[in-house]
Amino acid sequence: MPSKRKILVTQALPYANGVPHLGHLVGMIQTDIWVRLQKMRGHDCLFVCGSDSHGTPIMIQAEKLGITPEALVNDIKAQQERDFRDFHIDFDNYHTTHSSQNQALVNTLFKRHLEKENIYKRTIKQLYDPVKNMFLPDRYIKGECPRCHAKDQYGDNCEVCGATYSHTEVINPYSVLSGAKPIEKESEHYFFKLQNFETFLKSWTQHGHLQHQVTNKLAEWFKDGLKEWDISRDAPYFGFLIPGETHQYFYVWLDAPVGYMASFKHLCEQRKDIQFDEYWNEDSDVELYHFIGKDIIYFHALFWPAVLHGAAFRTPTAIFVNGFLTIDGQKMSKSRGTFIKARTYLNHLRPEYLRYYLAAKLSDRIEDLDIHFDDFISRVNADLVGKFINIASRSANFITKHFQSKLSAHCAEAALYQSFVVAGEEIAACLEKMEFSQAIRKIMTLADQANQYIDDKKPWALMKNDANREEVQAVCSMGINLFRLLMIYLKPVLPETAREVEHFLNIPPLQWDDIKQPLLNHVIHEFKPLINRVDPKQIEAMKRDEN
Ligand code: 2FM
Ligand code: ZN
Repeated sequence: MPSKRKILVTQALPYANGVPHLGHLVGMIQTDIWVRLQKMRGHDCLFVCGSDSHGTPIMIQAEKLGITPEALVNDIKAQQERDFRDFHIDFDNYHTTHSSQNQALVNTLFKRHLEKENIYKRTIKQLYDPVKNMFLPDRYIKGECPRCHAKDQYGDNCEVCGATYSHTEVINPYSVLSGAKPIEKESEHYFFKLQNFETFLKSWTQHGHLQHQVTNKLAEWFKDGLKEWDISRDAPYFGFLIPGETHQYFYVWLDAPVGYMASFKHLCEQRKDIQFDEYWNEDSDVELYHFIGKDIIYFHALFWPAVLHGAAFRTPTAIFVNGFLTIDGQKMSKSRGTFIKARTYLNHLRPEYLRYYLAAKLSDRIEDLDIHFDDFISRVNADLVGKFINIASRSANFITKHFQSKLSAHCAEAALYQSFVVAGEEIAACLEKMEFSQAIRKIMTLADQANQYIDDKKPWALMKNDANREEVQAVCSMGINLFRLLMIYLKPVLPETAREVEHFLNIPPLQWDDIKQPLLNHVIHEFKPLINRVDPKQIEAMKRDEN
């Protein structure tokens, strides 16, 4: 095993204007499995996240609810924390971008770039809602498509013909907020000159920090040329005022990734054993990984490294991108009944079913992932209950009933045990590389072998003759030991089951290194069914609940 690594991991910060749904859980669970693996392998790994709390949609949502944006983001943050905790997402810290730590860090970054003239000001024209008295982001403008003349299309693209265009081209534009006809108005904005970082970024994006698919995507953007980035928004806006301004706020996408640093800073304030600078200084040798969805590559793989590098902070070791979620082959949608909130799922199904199902499907490629519920049922029932848990349930009762709950003093099949240990290193390597589905396939192949071993030995038949007592104990102890190895390999995916198994086996929390030694001459507790089969009725009830 490599020597102890220091690692900081982040998962994209969910917006604080909606409660978690299954789409959020793909990335959360993927990241959590990886982090748990690192912790189990003895590395010093921290996982921080939080709510992305600023921006126009949050401001509008709060207004609709008749509450302050602060109240809205506090409320949603609390719900996010509950839902993620109940899916066993083990954050070291869950913070918010609307925090003093974030404001101080954003100001520092801003000042450093201003001094280096990477940020400058100029006047631009934008559409303005004369009734609401605010500038309108493109998604708050609708009108007739200038190409196909479909009505009620967004200010920047048409969902009917797929055209993209500038909001100035929209025919008969109107404000989504008030219905009023927008007028053009000038204001001064701050721009970040991304072009200043072209050489740095061209090199950074080619040096092993990104998956190949991402590097290829970025090559297209480089070809189009890097464009300066508008990092300010006019009042009214929910965000941080730009230092020295009274009506200009930082754009949410400037302070959002800084939220990773802020969440970590907040953690440092609670734990005196970790130092912010060691993790974020330019010369830091801590590993830093950002896990994100494919829709936010531009922000993370171009803006973010440039923002960090230009302000003399370290850049990420790697960015890891996952695809979108579909449900029963369809985009999640309220009208089709395929939109499922995290809480609705939790009200009906064990969180580990989803953790396992996603692990069985996730790879290191940026592919969309489908939760097909028939497949979900058969996968969970066949693999987890039929194969994995079955090994323990068919071995444990003999040990409890006939051997005073004590495992044999010897490992009956050292070669078989050793082959499982060797496979464990391959499984760890797959998990490390984010090849979760390959790891799960290998684990289930081992589960088949363990079941085959018990089938071959037939302890139930042996037990009929008293002369075979010792062999029955040896075979069932072997079964338990193989089960224990598989539990170690599955622990990052099934942390709750692992806790129950640790109780059943009467052992301290399992670490990866525990694979080396089998449990011998050891008293276990009584076996209780660990995971129940999924009943299709539970799925139906969950879907009904959401509609
Ligand atoms: O796309 C989103 O959901 C954003 N809230 C992600 C932000 S990630 C980071 F930059 F904070
Ligand atoms: Zn159109």
